Amino acid sequence: MYKDIFKSLREAALVKNNQNTRRLRNEPPPEPQKPYPKDSQLIPLPEPDFLEDKEVSFLELMELRSTIRLYSDKSLTLKELSYLLWCTQGVKAVLPSGVTKRTVPSAGARNAFETYLYIDRVDGLTSGLYRFLAIEHALLPIDIGDGVKKRLSSGFNKLNMYDECAVTFMWAAVLDRMDYYFGGRALQYLYLDAGHVCQNLYLACYTVDMGCCAIGHFNDIELNHELGLDGENEFVVYAAHVGKNR
Ligand SMILES: Cc1cc2nc3c(=O)[nH]c(=O)nc-3n(C[C@H](O)[C@H](O)[C@H](O)COP(=O)(O)O)c2cc1C
Repeated sequence: MYKDIFKSLREAALVKNNQNTRRLRNEPPPEPQKPYPKDSQLIPLPEPDFLEDKEVSFLELMELRSTIRLYSDKSLTLKELSYLLWCTQGVKAVLPSGVTKRTVPSAGARNAFETYLYIDRVDGLTSGLYRFLAIEHALLPIDIGDGVKKRLSSGFNKLNMYDECAVTFMWAAVLDRMDYYFGGRALQYLYLDAGHVCQNLYLACYTVDMGCCAIGHFNDIELNHELGLDGENEFVVYAAHVGKNR
């Protein structure tokens, strides 16, 4: 049924199509991060340099990482949230070209994701919708009004997990950032990149006694709509629920 669509996607990814990318035409690159209003009240996160390091046995981590779907009702600390954001999208360097190097690999260092967070329980933060500003390592409040939890719930299917977790991560791809560089291969690289990000979340959660469940089965139209994304140039590709272990 979907074979024709998949065939078109495969054709779009053929390397010869990539000879006409905007990068090769020397057009100006897209910004490495979605802009935000200059007068926004940002919430700085604890500096990654001062986060506690965790002693882990690598092989134990490989063996014991698993999906956790039940969470305690405990809150995360701001430091713990900062740790998870650093491990998933932390910016290690901004190159003179404006390209960011992060804690996760990304095709062509495009790093085309914006991280949206529904924060239910993090000490010191009002519940609501936020965006992680990876370059500033800070949070941008988007909607901390009443009713945001209910609105966003239309994006998810397994509502018990959404209800119980402390934080829901939602990674939205900004297609332009990847398309600029890779043309027809952009879409597949976005989905590959997303896997690295969520894998780091799983691993980071394990080290701090938290559980994580990757969510690929969300309601695209509703979730994009509730996040204010157009679904074409920016759209959610992956999500994850996180909470402290019971
Ligand atoms: C791409 C992807 C999408 C997933 N989507 C969901 C999902 O929508 N809902 C869910 O409960 N689990 C989801 N999972 C979690 C898998 O069900 C889980 O990884 C799998 O059962 C293997 O279990 P493990 O992670 O404990 O090894 C997803 C995992 C991946 C990698």
